[in-house]
Amino acid sequence: MASPDPTGPAGPATICPVTTPPTTPPAAARLTTAELVERAARLAAAGGRTVLGLVGAPGAGKSTLAHALADALGPERAVVVGMDGFHLSNAVLEDLGRRDRKGAIDTFDDAGYATLLERIAAQRPGDAPVYAPVFRREIEEPVAAGVAVAADVPLVVTEGNYLLARTGAWPRARARMREVWYLEPPEELRLDRLVARHAAYGRSPQEARDWALGTDQANAQLIATTRADADLVLEWVDAEA
Ligand SMILES: Nc1ncnc2c1ncn2[C@@H]1O[C@H](COP(=O)(O)OP(=O)(O)O)[C@@H](O)[C@H]1O
Ligand SMILES: [Mg+2]
Repeated sequence: MASPDPTGPAGPATICPVTTPPTTPPAAARLTTAELVERAARLAAAGGRTVLGLVGAPGAGKSTLAHALADALGPERAVVVGMDGFHLSNAVLEDLGRRDRKGAIDTFDDAGYATLLERIAAQRPGDAPVYAPVFRREIEEPVAAGVAVAADVPLVVTEGNYLLARTGAWPRARARMREVWYLEPPEELRLDRLVARHAAYGRSPQEARDWALGTDQANAQLIATTRADADLVLEWVDAEA
């Protein structure tokens, strides 16, 4: 359908109001653990290797849900490979002058992550294991080959901040994921959990709040811009992990 031309013969006085897109994004679906496990089980049973992505702001529960799904499906059906294993090391971040904003999009090895997901997606039964790095929060450093992805495990759950980012090598990683779920708990709850997690790993209450509302919040804003590209936006309602 042709849209009216506001500069046409009738002149600007007859400009039609532009149809504005909905300003409120669709609400998150409220889903139980059982429903999410069922959806993940279907992906595991789809045949061949399937990669499921979980994305969301810091503290949204990505790592917790990824491990809950893997635990529910068991090691024969699912394994977790976190994007956090691709944090640049503290030494490299110091060199780059980015140590004070660890967790930002340019503090990860996006190309390394994309390439690992390509290897994981291409892995076939009988192939050698693919080893993935893990992030050790206790030492705030990634550790190489921290998890083995066996070739006959059908579902790989990957999770992290920038799975839907449109820059760098992130789209190459996204292309290997069958589905991406965006976790969106109520904002206040997310922040409370995030501050508590920072405190649990050694930050003072003030440092924990400053980090959550500073560096983390800047990242959360970037992540929020990727929400519309998710296959499912969800609030996970019944896990008190
Ligand atoms: N559904 C939940 N119920 C209770 N606590 C949760 C839940 N999801 C996450 N948490 C807690 O909130 C904190 C942040 O979750 P985490 O999985 O580390 O978030 P993310 O990986 O998205 O940064 C963790 O301490 C975790 O134990
Ligand atoms: Mg996490």
